[in-house]
Amino acid sequence: MKKLDRWKFTGKNGEFKVENVDQSTYLYFPLANEAEMMSAITPRLHGDIKTGQNTFAMRPVSLEDLHNTKSARNFWLKVNDREVWSATGNSAAQFAKKFSDQTETVELNAGLLWHKITRTNEKLSLKSEVTNFVPTNSDTVELMQVKIKNTGPEDLKIEPTAAVPIYGRSADNLRDHRHVTSLLHRTKTIEKGVVVKPTLSFDERGHKPNEVSYAVLGAEADGKAPVGFFPVLEDYIGDGGNLEWPEAVVLSSDDYLKAGAEIDGYETMGALKFEEITLRGGAEAAYIIAISTAEEEVDFEKLAAKYCSQEAFEKHLAENKKFWQQKLNVVDIDSADQEFNQWMKWVSLQPILRRIYGCSFLPSHDYGRGGRGWRDLWQDCLALLLMEPEPVRDLLYNNFSGVRIDGSNATIIGSEPGEFKADRNNIKRVWMDHGAWPLMTTKLYIDQSGDLDFLLKEQSYFENGSELKAQNGEIYQGSIIEHLLVQHLTHFFDVGEHNNCLLKNGDWNDGLDMAENRGESVAFTALYGSNLLDLAELLKALAAEKSIKKIELAAELSILLDTVEEDFDYQSVEYKREVLSDYRSRCESGISGQKIDFNLKELTADLEAKGESIFEHLNQNEWIETKAGDKFYNGYYDDDGQRLEGDHPKGVRMTLTGQVFPIMAGAADQDQIKQVVDSADKYLKDLSVGGYRLNTDFKELKTNLGRLFGFAYGHKENGAMFSHMAVMYSNALYKQGFAEAGDKVIDYIYQHCKDFDTSRTYPGIPEYINQRGRGMYPYLTGSASWLLLTVVTQIFGVRGELGNLVLDPKLLKKHFDPAAKAAVKTIFADKLLNISYFNKNQLGVKDYQVQEVKINGQSVNFENKAGAAVVERSLISKQHDQEVNIEVILN
Ligand code: G1P
Repeated sequence: MKKLDRWKFTGKNGEFKVENVDQSTYLYFPLANEAEMMSAITPRLHGDIKTGQNTFAMRPVSLEDLHNTKSARNFWLKVNDREVWSATGNSAAQFAKKFSDQTETVELNAGLLWHKITRTNEKLSLKSEVTNFVPTNSDTVELMQVKIKNTGPEDLKIEPTAAVPIYGRSADNLRDHRHVTSLLHRTKTIEKGVVVKPTLSFDERGHKPNEVSYAVLGAEADGKAPVGFFPVLEDYIGDGGNLEWPEAVVLSSDDYLKAGAEIDGYETMGALKFEEITLRGGAEAAYIIAISTAEEEVDFEKLAAKYCSQEAFEKHLAENKKFWQQKLNVVDIDSADQEFNQWMKWVSLQPILRRIYGCSFLPSHDYGRGGRGWRDLWQDCLALLLMEPEPVRDLLYNNFSGVRIDGSNATIIGSEPGEFKADRNNIKRVWMDHGAWPLMTTKLYIDQSGDLDFLLKEQSYFENGSELKAQNGEIYQGSIIEHLLVQHLTHFFDVGEHNNCLLKNGDWNDGLDMAENRGESVAFTALYGSNLLDLAELLKALAAEKSIKKIELAAELSILLDTVEEDFDYQSVEYKREVLSDYRSRCESGISGQKIDFNLKELTADLEAKGESIFEHLNQNEWIETKAGDKFYNGYYDDDGQRLEGDHPKGVRMTLTGQVFPIMAGAADQDQIKQVVDSADKYLKDLSVGGYRLNTDFKELKTNLGRLFGFAYGHKENGAMFSHMAVMYSNALYKQGFAEAGDKVIDYIYQHCKDFDTSRTYPGIPEYINQRGRGMYPYLTGSASWLLLTVVTQIFGVRGELGNLVLDPKLLKKHFDPAAKAAVKTIFADKLLNISYFNKNQLGVKDYQVQEVKINGQSVNFENKAGAAVVERSLISKQHDQEVNIEVILN
């Protein structure tokens, strides 16, 4: 196989280019706007366009559809009555490699969020430049400009045809009633294009009149309309033809329709025939195509007038570039490695992309029907808190209405605030980690903002698809802190036989879904432990700030706050289960609606007792040593109650997840962390896949633990380098002061992704690296949030602490540029902070501390907390200008 050159950054806003990009098959790129127009586009312009599960303008694609032309945007040229050439590379001749790599070359240039392919054919003296993007307004349209240049001296006679097959229906009909749904199509031709509006939205549970229309519109550079259309797919390809060799183009058919035609009941083709031209040597012609899905009544003539000219295209493209540049300008990394800084631009875009696409609408993410899962929702908010803190408060508040009073939650989140659906495909499942994420995000929010009042805001609970009612029939509301307590206290008591939280239908690892009865997640027990301690800290801060001694909580919670009045025995599994069953039976018949006052001191002591008991238990019972003398934590028990990790006849078993949370939680001491790092280096590190694998090879189909053991080893949740967990590992290491070890984890991923010939992934962090080293499931991964969070709040150490600004850098020597400076831009206290660290003496991370902090040139007082600076929020918020410069001298 030909070795591929790596991508190269070409600008300051993430712009990059890839030469010979068509030599790689599974690449795709997102084009979207916040009105939820969602496209995917490949180097050959394959990929689909949609606004949701039921509204695909182009045929839905999964990974393996990316190399067929059924979902390809095409633009044909018939040249000098002889050669048929696709400006997007989609002719049978091009697939058959009629033109060698020497005569036809392809280059990608892309940026935030636009995609340009340049295809040069020396033999034909033709060059095409095809640019696609989605304008950043409320229109649901993708625009494409095709520029054709005659690169030779001779005149060329050109017959141009734009060709985009319009699928125009729900993804569900890809196979289910594919033909029958074409009978619903009502297609017409208008002045500048082809429009189809199906009569019904097909659903055998109850068909509904359809309101959605789809269109392919186009014009020449000056806005001149096409001369005619081939709106029916079978007429366009002709008998015996196909989309790669369509008769209409190949035979220069005159059998096209003019505007005003109506055709019912066939697959629609957005084929637009333009006037034949003579392209002089060196001359250029341009065509603008718009592909739209309109959920409401839209005047497509007007839409074409708005977009289908070169002037309009260039104007909207410039606006698009500016929009995304400004949107991402709120966080900027300026370390010595310029490429890393640019790579991070794409990483910061990813959480926004996941908000738009959910986990369902890019080619690798071909599962679900839209929306996001609970844990993804909360984790994406981590990055959004650093980028768009303003709307996140409401988002967090609304999300809490998805919590159930039994500590579980709605699992699928719709696109509207507070819109929840109980379960995907109506399969009721409970993931035991779900209760832990909201606190992490809420704590970050409170630390960044100082908004402790948030904890006292009242919110409803979720029950049977709506709001929980108390016994008197009224909607019951409790404070946010009550929601958090419910989530943590219920999990604390919900233990398996080894006194760890039950695994149920899985934890963070969706693939651990076959140990519902006896499985336990030690990993997440650790996280619940530290969360309980964090909750206690938040309550103390609340008590101090508000000078309060009590808070009101649901009366039923007194059962779970058992240290307050009763004798308790947290070593006893039976005791814990009894308490939980008592609470559940009290809630089963509806909760009383009564609230009682809880003494804050007693409450915090209760949470601390619980959190500490977990840590004690972990270190006594789950810290293991192999025969070879390696030490690390056991992370799980399977459905037969067997410990998962450690020595095994088929080889030592270890998971990364099992290590990450005890470290992050602070349950492991420094010595233990060192030993975990050594063990992870020995058993999990593999640079051929970008660093630390998720687990060792168990060489067994463990049907008593989960589906992931059915995946081939080294893929996805079975032992791939799974970015999300690896980045959390790095975060945990940084948090506990292991900067070098933490840096390595991220560096391995980054270096691997940069090696494009192996990783075959555009800039940004993919969900995982597979056994062949390929970056898989790009863009829509929670690891991006965690990476941004880790870089800003750990490596650069810029974070909030109950509203004050902490500057606690863990930058290594390599991060500082030749002027001994490393800088980061981020939002804090509603200001855009430009923070520059100076390490003039080139000290190592363990040898420097913050010596001086200057805000807009003025030295300010700060509290020195173990070498870090804590700067009062008011010193920042009182600054007049929106942008604030902070210089930090390290010594
Ligand atoms: C994906 C899911 C996430 C899950 C993880 C492991 O990770 O989105 O909810 O925890 O797989 O099963 P992501 O794509 O966010 O990296």
